[in-house]
Amino acid sequence: MSVPSPLRRVLAALALGLMLQAAPAAGAPIPDLGPVAAQPPASALPAGWSRRGVFMEVLVRAYQDSDGDGIGDLNGLTSRLDYLQSLGITGLWLMPVFESEDRDHGYAVKNYRAIEPDYGTLADFDRLLAEAHQRGIAVIVDYVMNHAAAAHPLFEGAYDSRKSPYTDWFIWSEDKPSGWNTFSGEPWREGNQRWYYAVFDTGMPDFNLRNPKVVDFHLDNLRFWLNRGVDGFRFDAVGVLFENSAAGWENQPENHQLLKRVQDLLASYGEKYMVCESPSDPAPFASPDSCGSAFAFGLQKHILSSAKLGRLRDDVLYSLRKMPVPRMATFLANHDHFAGARRARQFDGDEKGYRAAVATLLTLPGLPFLYYGEEIGLGQSQPVSNADQSLRGPMSWSSEPNAGFTTAAKPFRANVANWQTANVAAQEKDPASLLNWYRGLIALRNAEPALSQGNFTALSQRDQPVFAFLREHEGSRLLVLINYARQPAQHALPASFKAADWTVAFPQGAASPFVAAKAGTPVARVQLGAQQVIVLKAR
Ligand code: NOJ
Repeated sequence: MSVPSPLRRVLAALALGLMLQAAPAAGAPIPDLGPVAAQPPASALPAGWSRRGVFMEVLVRAYQDSDGDGIGDLNGLTSRLDYLQSLGITGLWLMPVFESEDRDHGYAVKNYRAIEPDYGTLADFDRLLAEAHQRGIAVIVDYVMNHAAAAHPLFEGAYDSRKSPYTDWFIWSEDKPSGWNTFSGEPWREGNQRWYYAVFDTGMPDFNLRNPKVVDFHLDNLRFWLNRGVDGFRFDAVGVLFENSAAGWENQPENHQLLKRVQDLLASYGEKYMVCESPSDPAPFASPDSCGSAFAFGLQKHILSSAKLGRLRDDVLYSLRKMPVPRMATFLANHDHFAGARRARQFDGDEKGYRAAVATLLTLPGLPFLYYGEEIGLGQSQPVSNADQSLRGPMSWSSEPNAGFTTAAKPFRANVANWQTANVAAQEKDPASLLNWYRGLIALRNAEPALSQGNFTALSQRDQPVFAFLREHEGSRLLVLINYARQPAQHALPASFKAADWTVAFPQGAASPFVAAKAGTPVARVQLGAQQVIVLKAR
């Protein structure tokens, strides 16, 4: 047996010391951070898919449970693709599906290259992609560049030791910076005798995106999913990627520069789609020099309030003038309470008013996104501990126990209040149901490039009961008439509009709305019933 010499012992101790300095604190193993080379798979989708169609945002946890544990999963979602296809859906946005701390439904990511174990496996994900593509449905996934989970092993290591090689992956200060007040209040959080920056929540520390290694890590992660065949991403919280000062923590120029890099990466894979979330100021992110598309926050509230008030809000026209809506993603609702409550809450019993709002969404420019369950009027889940969760109840498929969502005794969250009436099976049977209203409008949008890609011309002014507009594309013209008022209304159109030139495109069987104009008036007139929607097509 060789006894280590004193010199050897010193060298061994030194080496161990160096190793300990470099190694992050013991804890969960560090997930794969290695480089990922681009291997673009062939696209299974028809060319131009990203400029037309209708997307559905899905919370996998709440959509369909396939294994009886009360939690929705990827295989459950795959089993519902036929339904989505029958609805005319051409794209899915999956809220975060990566392994997460789940403090906020997946937005606190622990491993960017692994599927959340509650949801299944990478093989399940691959199967979902293949099955969706077979049905002409694109799949984009939520990607969170701004922050990780505090339980991410990299942050845990950095938190434990200033000497962790990952310290510079996050944002630290030895003293508490003063004067900061972000939308969640104080963004500097005390941690192990220093302060770290976490704009949303202590459980979501912001990444230091000025560190090129962090950016490379994200680009590698994106390649990881692109190589598997995802069709794009929804980028979370892009308004807060970089901070320059207490007065400059939102919508900084660096945000756009980074997103443009990401856009270029996606473009190198062929036709892909990325859409960004910046509720406070979305339009700049829709620029081709930034993200290329962004959710049209604001427009949804104006559409909904027009339908509630019974007249066209000026804000609708203003948003359509001021925002590059044709490049944007439009919606009426999403998973965040600040964007609005579930329809049943907002419209109470006024389903006709809500239908007018849906028709507006599905006939205006932009790429419409639906939020799962809105097509059946899915209600709120109660009781829950926070408002966001009330919007994220289990999908209601039938009037079977637990609404057909799970065979478990109890779903992960209480069924929504109205599941016995607002469920897919009941509404499939009723041609006049809300579900079939959505289906008819989506079919119309899918069939008419003028709706998905056409020019928009308003034929109404603020405060009028009827929102009339033209959509035109390559010689095809559609005239959309939506009466928000709870009583019949007439609307004047330019005299060049003649009844004989137009045929009813939606809803089937509706009569022509043209009425004889009063003698001597140089206008054409249409008459609509209370909250009536009618779409005409030029012959
Ligand atoms: C925006 C997401 O929509 C929201 O649900 C989430 O909590 C925050 N970003 C933080 O990731």
